[in-house]
Amino acid sequence: MDNNKGYFLGKNAVVTGAASGVGLALCEELLSQGAGKVVLADINEENLRTHEKRLKNQYPGQVKGIRCDVTKENEVQQMIAGAVEFMDGRFDLLINNAGLGLAGMFAPTGASKTLIEKLNMHVLTNEDWEKAFAINFYGALYGCRAAIKVMVPQGGGQVVNIISGIAWSPMAYQSMYAATKAALNMLTLTLRYEYWDEGIKFNSATPGTTLTAIWGDIGAPEGAQTAEESARKVLKGAAENQRLILGDKGDEEGAPHCFDPAIQDGLDSYFINVARVRRGGKLVI
Ligand SMILES: NC(=O)c1ccc[n+]([C@@H]2O[C@H](COP(=O)([O-])OP(=O)(O)OC[C@H]3O[C@@H](n4cnc5c(N)ncnc54)[C@H](O)[C@@H]3O)[C@@H](O)[C@H]2O)c1
Repeated sequence: MDNNKGYFLGKNAVVTGAASGVGLALCEELLSQGAGKVVLADINEENLRTHEKRLKNQYPGQVKGIRCDVTKENEVQQMIAGAVEFMDGRFDLLINNAGLGLAGMFAPTGASKTLIEKLNMHVLTNEDWEKAFAINFYGALYGCRAAIKVMVPQGGGQVVNIISGIAWSPMAYQSMYAATKAALNMLTLTLRYEYWDEGIKFNSATPGTTLTAIWGDIGAPEGAQTAEESARKVLKGAAENQRLILGDKGDEEGAPHCFDPAIQDGLDSYFINVARVRRGGKLVI
């Protein structure tokens, strides 16, 4: 039994990046909490079809997988149009979850050799920055635009954009990831007020540090929670229309402090230490 008082009962949802990790867990959790129709959108056709088939068996008539590269606006529009058709016109919830982690050195450093050898990092190029914004920022922006187009005329809906605690945690060698997610956070919060009176709820959500494929060969840090735990946190926050949904203890503690001038010294020493340990080849957070 969920603790969201039936908030998702009968609601129709689209989740992007839904063929793995947090996105897949969000779909499964929505279905288990009584959602109506759920569309899984992902660029990874193989994973998408595997999970679509499995979930269709479990929830006949309620699940559809649509291949979509969120970096292409026309594909996002077509995916949303296909989803709305599947939903018989009522589109309640979009979760823009597709994203990549994307670490790297901003420019060459004295520690380049260790960072390359131990953490598989390279120096970020303009092309890397463009790709990062294309998926982590523009992918969600295109989703917001397509959802608004349907949700304004139908009189409301909800959009949850998945950001990350990195949006306020300046961790060295993650400048690109941090910049994309900080930008997405502010886009989301601005739209929250721009569309409040049109009945569209916008929420920024961090899943928290989660054991998923995003961590690659390096592996998730110790203490990472499961994708199911993260999904439940995100959905609880969405049901409560929280402005900023915080997925784990680290984010709950970090978010309120991140720009507090009174604790600047503490913040500096924490993040300088993170940078130094990473320079030594260990990915701490
Ligand atoms: N795992 C964590 O610790 C963590 C922490 C904070 C935030 N996040 C965020 O959570 C979200 C989900 O990440 P995850 O950890 O589940 O990772 P994941 O790698 O398990 O899943 C990401 C999914 O996005 C899909 N995807 C990638 N590029 C795409 C594109 N162009 N179009 C459509 N789909 C695309 C992938 O195929 C994959 O299925 C991301 O936005 C990530 O930044 C994750």
